[in-house]
Formats: sequence, C-alpha cells, structure tokens
Amino acid sequence: MKLDFTGKVVLVTGAASGLGKATATAFSAAGASVFLVDVQEGVQAVASELGPKAAGHVADLSQLDKCADIVAAAVARFGQLDVLCNVAGVAWMDHVANVTPQRWHKLIDINLGALFFLSQAALPHLLERNGAIVNVASSAGTQGQAYMVPYSASKAGVIGMTKAMAMEFMHKPVRINAVAPAGMKTPMTAGGVVVPPEGAEMDLIVRYHGFREMAEPESIANMILFAASDAAPNLHGSCLGVDQGQLAG
Ligand SMILES: NC(=O)c1ccc[n+]([C@@H]2O[C@H](COP(=O)([O-])OP(=O)(O)OC[C@H]3O[C@@H](n4cnc5c(N)ncnc54)[C@H](O)[C@@H]3O)[C@@H](O)[C@H]2O)c1
Repeated sequence: MKLDFTGKVVLVTGAASGLGKATATAFSAAGASVFLVDVQEGVQAVASELGPKAAGHVADLSQLDKCADIVAAAVARFGQLDVLCNVAGVAWMDHVANVTPQRWHKLIDINLGALFFLSQAALPHLLERNGAIVNVASSAGTQGQAYMVPYSASKAGVIGMTKAMAMEFMHKPVRINAVAPAGMKTPMTAGGVVVPPEGAEMDLIVRYHGFREMAEPESIANMILFAASDAAPNLHGSCLGVDQGQLAG
C-alpha cells in the first residue's frame, strides 16, 4: 500500500529526533508539506534536509499558552492544516518519593497538556480539511511501569484523551487516534536519561523490557502515516498498540 499525502499539510512535534524526525521524513517522502516543531534548534536542520516543502519551528511545548501560536504559524506558512501528529515527549525514571510537583507538572504538560492544546487550536483547521490527529502514547499507558509513574500516567492520559476527543467529535469530519509503541531505538532509550534509579528493584523493570528487539522508529512512523491516511477511514478513537508483542500476555 502506497500512502500519498500530496497536497496535504502535516504538523509534527518532536521532529528534531527519534520518532518525530522519522515521522516528518516519512510524510515528506509521501508528498506532504511538513511543519516540524521541537524545542531543539536542530529541528531547523532536519527541515532543511527535507527541502522547500518543509519548515522548522523552535518552540517549548511545556508553555501551554503558546500552543495556539504554533498551529497559527503552521497555517500561516502553508495555508491549511490536514494532520496533527503529537509525537514530542519526555521520559525519566525515579522513585515515587523523589518526584516533585515541578517535575510532575513539566512532564505532564509536555506529554499530555500540549497534545490537548495543540489539538484544540488545530481542530477548526482540521475540520475544514477532513483531517486527522495522531497522538503518540506508549505501552506504558496500559502497562504499569515501576519508577515511571508520571510517564505512565501521562501516556494513560493520552489514550483517554484520544478516546474522549474522538467521542466529542464523533459527528464531525475529523479522525482522532493514538499509536502506542513499546521500546524504540531512539535517543530517548539510548541516552542516560531513562535509567533505573539507585536502589531500583530490577525484577520489576525487566518485565517491561519485552521479549523482542526494540522497534526502529521508521516502522512506528509507518503506523502513524497509516492512521492519518485515507486508507484508514474507519479508524477513529483507537489506540494502535505497535509494541512487538509486549502486551500480548
Ligand atoms: N523510545 C521509546 O522507547 C518510546 C516508547 C514508547 C513511546 N515513546 C514516545 O515516542 C515519542 C517520541 O519519543 P522518541 O523515542 O523519539 O524520543 P526522542 O527523545 O528521540 O524525541 C523526543 C523529541 O521531543 C522533543 N521535546 C521534548 N521536550 C519538548 C518540549 N518541551 N517542547 C518541544 N519538543 C520537545 C525532544 O527535543 C525530541 O526531539 C514520545 O512521546 C515518547 O514518549 C517512546
């Protein structure tokens, strides 16, 4: 199946790295104009590599009152918006006792709040274009993961928000779905951020490392494109688990 996004405009968050970069690249290869958003300046270089039908935009998604400006900038640049892909996210591991209100709010704002407020601003444009929203959740949103309580809570929130928004827009021309990967080979898992905290009980962690090899981000990007495409007209309010069998049993 060849997915064609020629004439479509797609906003991708988290596009400087990992899954967001792979998603922006795949949409671009499928003919879309792509508006790439990230807090890292490197997003400009990624956009340049994709050519004239791509634009980079540096923004911090933890500033929820700026989400509407991001959508407005995308529409100002390309004249319309067909697809919103909420990919950006942060993750870290720590004991429940060490989570401060500041760290809690920052993670929840980036992983959940920004998805809501970007969707809120994007929906009027998406409704004009029979568009789609694809949110990136995680297997951690369904499976409780020790030492990742705020992250698991945020991703469970993404799944709940996707379903509730799909219900509210049931009679409107827009499709709203989520994709939930398990382990992916991205900078998020390669770096020194998502590491067990000192004193962690390792038997609680090994069970969510999974049996199969971690996914390449390009394979998850393909699922995002499918969910956003005309090939999936009946997909609405779904969370596609793409987790190499992690939640099979
Ligand atoms: N890597 C995994 O194993 C895995 C598994 C399941 C779900 N996910 C989810 O996939 C998504 C992509 O993660 P990834 O693995 O590509 O990680 P990544 O760290 O490579 O990419 C995340 C991107 O989000 C951006 N970002 C972070 N905070 C931001 C902010 N405040 N404002 C704007 N941009 C910000 C980062 O700069 C980065 O470019 C995330 O939502 C993550 O939770 C990842």
